[in-house]
Amino acid sequence: MNPSIATSDSTKPIHPGEVWNDTNGVPINAHGGGILFHEGTFWWFGEHKIAGEEGNRAHVGVHVYTSQDLAEWTDAGIALTVDDSPGSEIPTGCVLERPKVIFNPRTGKFVMWFHLEPKGGGYEGARSAVAIADKPAGPYQFLHSLRPNAGVWPENVQAVDKCRLTIDEADDLAALGLGGAPFPWYPKNICYRRDFEGGQMARDMTLFLDDDGAAYHIYASENNGTLHISQLDDDFTMHAGRYIRIFPGRFHEAPALMKEGGRYFLFSSDCTGWAPNTARLSSAPSIWGPWEEHGNPCLGPGALIANCFESQPNFILPVPGEIDRFVFMADRWRPRNPIDGRYVWLPIAFQHGMPTVSWHDTWTLPSHPISSAPTLE
Ligand code: GAL
Repeated sequence: MNPSIATSDSTKPIHPGEVWNDTNGVPINAHGGGILFHEGTFWWFGEHKIAGEEGNRAHVGVHVYTSQDLAEWTDAGIALTVDDSPGSEIPTGCVLERPKVIFNPRTGKFVMWFHLEPKGGGYEGARSAVAIADKPAGPYQFLHSLRPNAGVWPENVQAVDKCRLTIDEADDLAALGLGGAPFPWYPKNICYRRDFEGGQMARDMTLFLDDDGAAYHIYASENNGTLHISQLDDDFTMHAGRYIRIFPGRFHEAPALMKEGGRYFLFSSDCTGWAPNTARLSSAPSIWGPWEEHGNPCLGPGALIANCFESQPNFILPVPGEIDRFVFMADRWRPRNPIDGRYVWLPIAFQHGMPTVSWHDTWTLPSHPISSAPTLE
């Protein structure tokens, strides 16, 4: 990362939850987003939403904005455009969510992953899709969509549990009528066996690029009940054949990963659709675990922190050149009028070695006095 970027001069405030205009004076349209930092510039990718309930499906594609200071954003256009040509997997009306972009120095390509639900279905497709570009702003070319890790067993299950379902087990599982909701009868250790052959379900997702150059895809799998962490291959366009399941039956959604002091911290949410809920923090000494849940990373009055400041996480941004500085990014969804969804960006403050998030009406980056964040009341 380049420590010489100009963020240390920034005094432009960020207003979490307010309408955030780009440099043209138009509200930023990049929901469920993520940020790429490349050669001194920030690139914010997110879902372009339209007005009305049909805006919950893709009509335009992935929008990208660029910034030098994280406060002022310039519209850089549509990075990945929906494609209505015959055979396209990303036509108008598909679900295209949570796009994330990382750069692969080996291939020189910018690699975008997103959650894809084919047009005409609900959320049962549970696919991941990949698009690549030669420049950060695109245009991104759709490469493929898949269900992760077909024919590969997770690393952290016993040999005895690496077996396909029997016909009776398959019938019993189908009879449970699992969709994506956290039913109390969710069977914690069986869905991955059902999906061994065709690939694992993948809905809410993120990418994480580690400091050793390895990249990971983290996604809500097994009918949302269990997260998977899967390494990507050298090109970052496929899975590498190595993955683990974590927190079976805990229904974590909206994963966002960061690393600090050699430890991995995972922010996530509970599973309540567009409605905000209590955030969750987990951590591990290695990406491969063991993972431990710590509870709610949000600090402040109960009403605010019970629903994560009325938002759901989408990304944790490490501020380049700034030790211990991270930005918590989340969506305040407006499912009845998605274009009016808001962005809740807040500074992360470490307390007793744990990343925490507190509300600020306004704050600046990075001159914000992180140590003065309010403590739990
Ligand atoms: C949310 C998720 C969104 C979208 C939505 C659909 O929990 O974070 O990305 O998938 O559910 O209901």
